[in-house]
Amino acid sequence: MNAPALPLARGRRPTAGQLRLAEECRDPGRPKPTPTISEVAADRYLDPARFAAERARLFGRMPLCLGPSAMLPEAGTAMTHDGFGKPLLITRDRGGVLHVFVNACRHRGTRLVDSTGPTPGPRIVCPYHAWAYGLDGALLAIPRAETFPGIDRARLPLVRVPGTAKLSVHMSSSCSIQ
Ligand code: FES
Repeated sequence: MNAPALPLARGRRPTAGQLRLAEECRDPGRPKPTPTISEVAADRYLDPARFAAERARLFGRMPLCLGPSAMLPEAGTAMTHDGFGKPLLITRDRGGVLHVFVNACRHRGTRLVDSTGPTPGPRIVCPYHAWAYGLDGALLAIPRAETFPGIDRARLPLVRVPGTAKLSVHMSSSCSIQ
């Protein structure tokens, strides 16, 4: 009995290689074509424009896996992740919940944390003007708050990157800095 045909994704056409493979599967006894060697031009690995385009099309649009949640096992810890072109800050708050933020202060955008491994601490303090954040991203304190009349700390949490407890994220989110 033949398996039902699977519908092609809308607008997608099989490649020449996929068609050839399908032909081989349909008629396994037919002579196989002589294998050929294909070459990949070195500029595919070196061209900055290609790298930027691949990064935008893949890393900027697809959910990405940062790693196993066990890489940040302890509650009350934080670490950075810079591998995908945006500075990320991964935290596990005191309740054990994982978060992923843009690793930038909401005041002037200073990089908040530099450690690549889990770093314990009840709060994250910006090295520039000492704004302090909780590991859940809340802006907890502003030194000399009287110099920011009318500021609403509740409106300035760390910028959250959409993610899951498995530490995968979607990188297309944007960041605004005050
Ligand atoms: S840039 Fe972070 S407190 Fe000013």
